[in-house]
Amino acid sequence: MAAKEKGKLRSEEWFGKEGKDGFIYRSWIKNQGYPAHQFKGKPVIGICNTWSEATPCNGHFRELAQFIKNGIYEAGGFPLEFPVMSLGETIIRPTAMLYRNLASMTVEESIRANPFDAVVLMTGCDKTTPSLVMGAASVDIPSIVLPGGPMLNGKFRGKDLGSGTDVWKFDADVKAGKMTLDEMEEAEACMSRSIGHCNTMGTASTMATMVEALGLTLPGVSSIPAADSRKKMNAHMTGMRAVEMAKENLKISKILTKPAFINAIKVNSAVGGSTNFVLHLLAIAKRVGVELSLDDFDKHGAKIPFLLNLMPSGKYLMEDYYYAGGIQVILKELGHHLSEEAITVNGKTLTENSQKARNWNTDVIRPITDPIIKEGGITVVKGNLCTEGAVIKVSAATPSLLKHKGRAVVFETIEDYHERIDNPDLDIDEHCIMVLKNVGPKGYPGMPEVGNMALPQKLIQKGISDMIRISDGRMSGTAYGTVFLHASPESALGSPLALVENGDIIECDVPAKKIHLHVSDEELAKRREKWTPIDLEFNRGYIKLYIDTVNQAHEGADLDFLIGSSGSIVNRESH
Ligand code: FES
Ligand code: MG
Repeated sequence: MAAKEKGKLRSEEWFGKEGKDGFIYRSWIKNQGYPAHQFKGKPVIGICNTWSEATPCNGHFRELAQFIKNGIYEAGGFPLEFPVMSLGETIIRPTAMLYRNLASMTVEESIRANPFDAVVLMTGCDKTTPSLVMGAASVDIPSIVLPGGPMLNGKFRGKDLGSGTDVWKFDADVKAGKMTLDEMEEAEACMSRSIGHCNTMGTASTMATMVEALGLTLPGVSSIPAADSRKKMNAHMTGMRAVEMAKENLKISKILTKPAFINAIKVNSAVGGSTNFVLHLLAIAKRVGVELSLDDFDKHGAKIPFLLNLMPSGKYLMEDYYYAGGIQVILKELGHHLSEEAITVNGKTLTENSQKARNWNTDVIRPITDPIIKEGGITVVKGNLCTEGAVIKVSAATPSLLKHKGRAVVFETIEDYHERIDNPDLDIDEHCIMVLKNVGPKGYPGMPEVGNMALPQKLIQKGISDMIRISDGRMSGTAYGTVFLHASPESALGSPLALVENGDIIECDVPAKKIHLHVSDEELAKRREKWTPIDLEFNRGYIKLYIDTVNQAHEGADLDFLIGSSGSIVNRESH
């Protein structure tokens, strides 16, 4: 149990002041109808709300925030809800990842500048989770996360539909002539039929799982569907706990320790989480000063059995997962694999919290003695093509392609790919390896989810459903295939990936954690001399700042000046 630290509340620096300064801080708060006794001397709890109609997955957060407030009031605290930049994965162009770091800045500065003793972070759609945790970590006050919950199962013509995953399937079906565009449009409302984020083990569910595995949520909250009334009850409980955390001064840095990060890596392997997990966890670790590298994902995650039969790697959806017992069952199954050193927001360990879990459907959540795959985590591969590594989600790949040698078919940019991929004359067959350049952090910019390039139509029509793809981009957590991602350093910097040419032989050996470009060093040196970078054409604003300062994928793709924490102290008054 975290030791209770004595000391005055941070908010006293605002509402506890005498004279002019205290007057200003208190008087304007009163214009909202709060009498002094409601906030003076009480823990002030910020509710960091990512509600936005442009972030459909978080569209229910205004209502949900009310339940957090109820809990805060019940526990004797004073809630202040505030908005931050919200990122809707499906709407934002060119990619929400371009703005994750900007959103984290709005979170960090909003928390530090305001009189909060603790914060509740309301997270849902993919990037809303890492941006909020990164921002809060760089301030380091008590912080608790409330994941907004997944959508109910999609339902279409008697079958369940998984967010994202079935979109990629429909796209291939239309190309193969198995589905009409009218039928595909009919499926739109059938897929997204309730409030919540993607219902597959895509990036949003992966991020919800990650925050719970890190210890940042109350037990079991991350798998509750958004539409389930227990989500609201847990919002209430989260608000109550935030008040206690403020009194205990249980700062986020006491929870985000190295063992907590290792727990998160292990849990991610067990649930078959998204490859985006790697980038976000690395970025969060750097904010709290925990040493974490790509090698840790291999070292701690690669040998963990894959247990959760959810799309895109398996067959069920988040709703089924919750009814089967949810994340608590996974944590109980992992048992001794999890660290006893890491505490969660309630002061207990993951193992202590999950003692009472029961598995109600062993086809959805497999026991650790009978896993779906014995070693199914994210694997890091290295070689002359990506000296700092690339990642592949083994559970979503085709086993026969994990060891493969093939001829490269290279696309210089995403536009080049779109222009040529369905040309019947394109010299490509199912043994080839598709290579896409200039989709990394700086090169796109923003590292979009295009790494799972759709296969050429002529091969889909032949019945081919998977091929090896390599890029410095990302892929949606809802996607699948034998896809190597996050190749680092990225091609826009003139890395070896930039030098691959059509016809080069590439060898992938996932069990040996290797990827090799069969081109001599001399030849690569010659090609490097002739190489010219693409013109990025961004000369002002945030995107220029991003291109100038973003780190490479193996470092978490944060902006270099955001690494670390500035603490929570603000010494100067505003008037
Ligand atoms: Fe928001 Fe998938 S689009 S969670
Ligand atoms: Mg996504």
